[in-house]
Amino acid sequence: MPKQSNIIAPSILSADFSRLGEEVNDVLDAGADWIHFDVMDNHFVPNLTVGPMVCKSLRDNGISCPIDVHLMVQPVDDLIKMFADSGASSITFHPEASKDPEKSLSLIEDLGCKPGLVLNPDISLDVINPYLESLYMVLLMSVFPGFGGQKFIPEVLDKIKNLRTLIDDKSIDTRLEIDGGVNSDNISEISEAGADTFVAGSAIFNVKNYSDAIKNFRNNFS
Ligand code: DX5
Ligand code: ZN
Repeated sequence: MPKQSNIIAPSILSADFSRLGEEVNDVLDAGADWIHFDVMDNHFVPNLTVGPMVCKSLRDNGISCPIDVHLMVQPVDDLIKMFADSGASSITFHPEASKDPEKSLSLIEDLGCKPGLVLNPDISLDVINPYLESLYMVLLMSVFPGFGGQKFIPEVLDKIKNLRTLIDDKSIDTRLEIDGGVNSDNISEISEAGADTFVAGSAIFNVKNYSDAIKNFRNNFS
């Protein structure tokens, strides 16, 4: 199975929230493929962001691209239902945040969204192994979640390589997403290691010209 197409998913965490709709349209016009929607509950992670109403409002205002919801909340099932109703395309969650990850994954799928699991930098790939075949995507965190603008943890590169091998050996089409500290300096080695789906917040929204930032990413894919 060849590697999936490369996807760039700007994280709204670094957008100007006072002009969110405009920011999302601008970044899509600049060539972004998806929008990465970070949901934090000030319990599972030490920060608080936005909920399903904001996702619905983007949909109601014509945003039609895939919205990739990354749940950093505990528990997960109620919010899975709310985000599915609010226009989420894919929903990923951290397995330790669910009492029954298999049930939560089925819930996502039954509600018509694409299911994925997220691993923090210190959580082993063994945790997702039993679920791998049923996942649309595995999201590897390359920072500890909670805040944008952190530094990429280089040890995660080996984890990306190992997960790529697992996916390729099983001949499945699961996406390998990376999130945290991705920028134009490290995107080429992250891509080379085997990621195909790239989340970036500050490296896109903190640059003046979004189109230049996104082009720069694309020029550095392996
Ligand atoms: C971190 C979030 C990330 C974050 C990425 O908790 O899950 O999506 O916004 O931001 P940067 O790209 O600035 O590290
Ligand atoms: Zn995220």
